[in-house]
Amino acid sequence: MIPPKPALPSAHTPSFAAFEARYAASIADPAAFWAAEAKALDWFRPADAVMRFDPLTADIVWFAGAKLNACYNCVDRHAASTPDRTALIWAANAPGEYEHITFAELLAHVSRFANLLRELGVKKGDRVCLYLPMIPDLAYAMLACARVGAVHSVVFAGFSAEALRDRILDAGAAVIVTANEGLRGDKTIALKAIVDKAVAGLDVVEHVLVARRTEADVPMHPGRDEWLGPALARQRPYCPVEWMDAEDPLFILYTSGSTGKPKGVLHTTGGYLLYVASTFRYVFDAQPSDVHFCTADIGWVTGHSYILYGPLANAVPSVIFESTPVYPDPSRLWRVVDDVGATILYTAPTALRALMRFGDGPVSRTSRASLRILGSVGEPINPEVWRWFHDICGNGRCSVVDTWWQTETGGILISALPGVTPLEPGAATRPLYGIRPLLMDADGNEVHGNGVSGNLCLAGTWPGQARTIFGDHARFALTYFSAYTGYYFTGDGARRDENGNYWITGRVDDVLNVSGHRIGTAEIESALIEHPAVVEAAVVGYPHDLKGTGIRAYVVTRPDMTCQTVELQAQVRAAIGPFAMPDQVVIVPGLPKTRSGKIMRRILRKIAEGEKHAFGDLATLADPGVVAEILELCEGL
Ligand code: WTA
Repeated sequence: MIPPKPALPSAHTPSFAAFEARYAASIADPAAFWAAEAKALDWFRPADAVMRFDPLTADIVWFAGAKLNACYNCVDRHAASTPDRTALIWAANAPGEYEHITFAELLAHVSRFANLLRELGVKKGDRVCLYLPMIPDLAYAMLACARVGAVHSVVFAGFSAEALRDRILDAGAAVIVTANEGLRGDKTIALKAIVDKAVAGLDVVEHVLVARRTEADVPMHPGRDEWLGPALARQRPYCPVEWMDAEDPLFILYTSGSTGKPKGVLHTTGGYLLYVASTFRYVFDAQPSDVHFCTADIGWVTGHSYILYGPLANAVPSVIFESTPVYPDPSRLWRVVDDVGATILYTAPTALRALMRFGDGPVSRTSRASLRILGSVGEPINPEVWRWFHDICGNGRCSVVDTWWQTETGGILISALPGVTPLEPGAATRPLYGIRPLLMDADGNEVHGNGVSGNLCLAGTWPGQARTIFGDHARFALTYFSAYTGYYFTGDGARRDENGNYWITGRVDDVLNVSGHRIGTAEIESALIEHPAVVEAAVVGYPHDLKGTGIRAYVVTRPDMTCQTVELQAQVRAAIGPFAMPDQVVIVPGLPKTRSGKIMRRILRKIAEGEKHAFGDLATLADPGVVAEILELCEGL
């Protein structure tokens, strides 16, 4: 255990005792707690009731009847009080290239964008799909949607045309915003070409707006496509906001689950904004002097909550980082920290593992004197990486917060508070205010006490909780509220140690966490099965030094057709995106199945983990011989 670093005199949480007392109060009376927290936002109309929650119907309502606007809270009110304060710092792909955007400038950009959306006929409730690189236009577009009441659906720019098309169709988005090309490290990504492929023949898509990130000219479809620059230039920099109900949707974000079809997780305006604003304030102990640098992509929930909405709601300048931690060399992150004077660095274990391989040199060459808090998110951080982060990156001076949460939770649920919580390398530590984690055993009973493990569930509700899956509320109820009656099931396993600290042990469902990207094995399997030569496929994860989890696919092909493993990898790349590509493809004569035809993934997982003998009872297998054949084919992988 590492004692907490000294708290700042202006800290939001002065001591661990103060945290514990406040936590107890938040659990005893969550409505009172959140009503008090809500005062940090500007509301146009107060709520009639704080919350309503029915786990049986998965009905979650926060601040019924209240009205507010997320963009107003993130931009307008700060533009009025501190117009010259920096809101966003764009760290472009090229080292040393920065753009500082003040709140006054942000308001003008966002207002122009909002007027453009209105000109294109976008109305409250309409979905707008954003497929953009990490450029300020992405932030303007999201905030502009929030301003006019449109629902943004950001699709990570690493998704393929096919995956993008599915998401555009599912959301019914008539407007797409993209860029001619994206730049990331030494790579150029042909975003507009991908969009063209994705929307070909789709009637729903009426407008494609194209930001000019590079000099490259791209084909423009007359009547549908328009360059963003000139379209914005003709707009007024003033645009009134749409007052939204607290429960009006703010955004959809697609994420993976245990079925092949991605889920459009829907977050609403009031609860989400309050939750990310509040958790940003406590977990990063937000101070007026802070500069926040989150290295995530805005295409994932971490970027939504802790690059955009959380920091801006707190008027804390936030960095939009277009490049990668190793471009042009592995000192890049730390150089950005020094250049912008970042006080908070929020990153992922996968990035740290990649950097650790280069040793301490690239870190030590930089100052990092501005840093005071280091955050980790996205996957379990093993103690060795945690210590490197703490000792080397933070010079042993900075608080480390390992933050556990999910797309569906909207914001951080379990984390240490800096200067407050005693630190435990590898543990997410304590639930935040209003959060009640519980551990369940295989029979669905709660496991009480400390020093126990189980499946992680949450009791009650919190404002940032997702409200539904877009267009499929039954699936929402089934996925999250049916495994353990009355509780939200996270899909993660966890341990509560002797001191009451939580350690997240990883997914217990068919979701893989590959380099911090969440990918369903079923999604990869459906992509593989689309290949004409593939009869059957089973995908499992295995421990991978760099990615955390590697992807192995076992594939059965048609006897009359041959196919190369590279073709199958390409198939997944085209269906989902490069990040979902299996590291290993093994063509096997058959899959281990029970007599009733169920694939025994447990065995396939064990083989991928390097196990050779201990497969347990194989007597239930229809063809036990297949295990030896698969083992032989996997030899040397
Ligand atoms: C995993 C990302 C361990 C977990 C914010 C969760 C973590 C999934 C941590 C959600 C952490 C996230 N320690 N595991 N600090 N943070 N996870 O929806 O398995 O992309 O269920 O949200 O990432 O991934 P998602």
